[in-house]
Amino acid sequence: MAKSVLLLSGPNLNLLGEREPLIYGDATLDDHVATARAAAEQHGLDLDHMQSNHEGDLVAAVHGARGRYDAIVINAAALTHYGWSLHDALAAFEGKVVEVHLSNPYARETWRHTSVITPVADGSICGFGGLGYDLAIAAVARMLE
Ligand code: DQA
Repeated sequence: MAKSVLLLSGPNLNLLGEREPLIYGDATLDDHVATARAAAEQHGLDLDHMQSNHEGDLVAAVHGARGRYDAIVINAAALTHYGWSLHDALAAFEGKVVEVHLSNPYARETWRHTSVITPVADGSICGFGGLGYDLAIAAVARMLE
């Protein structure tokens, strides 16, 4: 059976393409999901995607992923910096976790320098724009080998 990945997208990422393009680029969330899906197919992984502007929905999605998905790739967006319930949910997920950001939060405002996701992730990829989704899936594939 193919291994499976759940891609999670946090608040405001539904506005990608229109939202601060100088920082986040012109690609839409659908474009990034397509990138991740193509990479997953190449590595023989199944991929599902879910986006929400609500922390509780993302927490519920992580709970639902327990025992069902082998890995989670997550761009938690602003929740990265304060979403402790998402941190705790991911800590209870037994599979692999990769954190992705389009921009490099460490080169931006100080409040973006803290990630509550990093301590519960196997690794983090940031600053490479859409390429980050490709790299994240490649990392998941390698870890699940
Ligand atoms: C982001 C970085 C976060 O600081 C920000 O709140 C986002 C997007 C990124 O992909 O670069 O919404 O996660």
